[in-house]
Amino acid sequence: MGGNDVPLHHHEPGDATLDVNPLYASAAARAGVPKLRIPREPMDAEVAYQIVHDELMLDGNARLNLATFVTTWMEPQAGRLMAEAADKNVIDKDEYPQTAEIERRCVHILADLWNAQPHQTAVGCSTTGSSEAAMLAGMALKWRWREARRAAGAAADRPNLVMGINVQVCWEKFCRYWDVEPRCVPMEGERRHLTGEEAVKLCDENTIGVVAVLGSTQDGSYEPVAEIAAALDRLHQGGGPDVPVHVDAASGGFVAPFVQPDLEWDFRIPRVASINTSGHKYGLVYPGVGWVIWRDRHALPEQLVFRVNYLGGSMPTFALNFSRPGAQVIAQYYNLIRLGFEGYRRIQQAALDTAQHLATAIARIGPFHLLTDGSELPVFAFTLRPEVTRYSVFDVSDGLRKRGWQVPAYSFPPHLEDTSVLRVVVRNGMSRDLADVLVADLRHEVAQLEKLSSPLPQHPDRARFHH
Ligand SMILES: Cc1ncc(COP(=O)(O)O)c(C=O)c1O
Repeated sequence: MGGNDVPLHHHEPGDATLDVNPLYASAAARAGVPKLRIPREPMDAEVAYQIVHDELMLDGNARLNLATFVTTWMEPQAGRLMAEAADKNVIDKDEYPQTAEIERRCVHILADLWNAQPHQTAVGCSTTGSSEAAMLAGMALKWRWREARRAAGAAADRPNLVMGINVQVCWEKFCRYWDVEPRCVPMEGERRHLTGEEAVKLCDENTIGVVAVLGSTQDGSYEPVAEIAAALDRLHQGGGPDVPVHVDAASGGFVAPFVQPDLEWDFRIPRVASINTSGHKYGLVYPGVGWVIWRDRHALPEQLVFRVNYLGGSMPTFALNFSRPGAQVIAQYYNLIRLGFEGYRRIQQAALDTAQHLATAIARIGPFHLLTDGSELPVFAFTLRPEVTRYSVFDVSDGLRKRGWQVPAYSFPPHLEDTSVLRVVVRNGMSRDLADVLVADLRHEVAQLEKLSSPLPQHPDRARFHH
């Protein structure tokens, strides 16, 4: 994300007021509520609630949002638990020892699901999401590399991180914030994510690690973690550097263990040093909770761990934030015990089935070509066939928007920037029936677009999308 479109809010003076519904029959309704300044006087709690509630109705309909990976519905029981836990602060482990215990259990459960090795002591924590988890995992890689370089009397001032250009923006952030050179393997032809061969070409003695993604935000495909690790094994055996792998399993960490149990991508692979996931994606929890786990204590340098003691006890922590809500951690634990392995398996399998059903139906409409089919993550991307020249994927996305659907269209990164795609993320709640409604709407939209007698104008800035 570049320059001026960062969603930071620039202060603007102004006297704009919110127009409050006169039905609320309050002084606030008569005077209006200033938008950009704190109101002078308090108002009735019910009126304040209603004002904010009414405004939020303008947000999109989560059910029709096929752009986001993030959970938009939880069971009322989870909602109740979260409301009851709204006051809990994850850092305050002395005041909330039971929340800390629940976080600890979640780390154990995930370590187990990710095949942490019994003879090693995996260590991990919750985060606000995969982005914070990526910062922590990236820092651990950088620290380890620097210690090893210093111990060898070698220069440690030019670290780099190897990954595919398809990585989520959090890895670009990590590199920029922590002064690490990003070495990105471009997409080429049919290769839209990292391979072992390409990763190795960019590694040298300054490489702090290789990030492998399970699966790619761009098209839902899984990067071949085992193949990447094997290529790095060969590099090391041949006298090259010993480069650890971090797996960004933001989505796949809660999918693969349940529905692709034979796929080796986790701590079964000795070179995998750490793994992150987003509890708020396929972990099925409201935003924001993520998790990061290191294979063993060696993978997480001790200097990064702070002991928090001024709230009473002494607890080791590794986090960017200090205070943070505990409710999401509690909701994660609720889901884990409520659904169990079989519950998660059924939900993820249903999402995969719906994704593949939808992908097949979309391919049958005519003008679309599938790049992925929803068989790895329940996520797929599709393009328009080259012979379609009068409209673009952006026009299709706009057309669906008119019907309430949010299906993002975007261009691929450098080297494949001429390929523009639509992407569908199937999450729990996207039933087969709803999928069929989408297909019908897509058919209708395509029929309209096919009637065009000349090409629609295209704007270059439509191609940007950063999920
Ligand atoms: C592969 C991958 N990594 C990291 C992230 C960032 O995750 P979060 O939103 O939990 O910070 C995402 C989000 O889409 C992702 O898909």
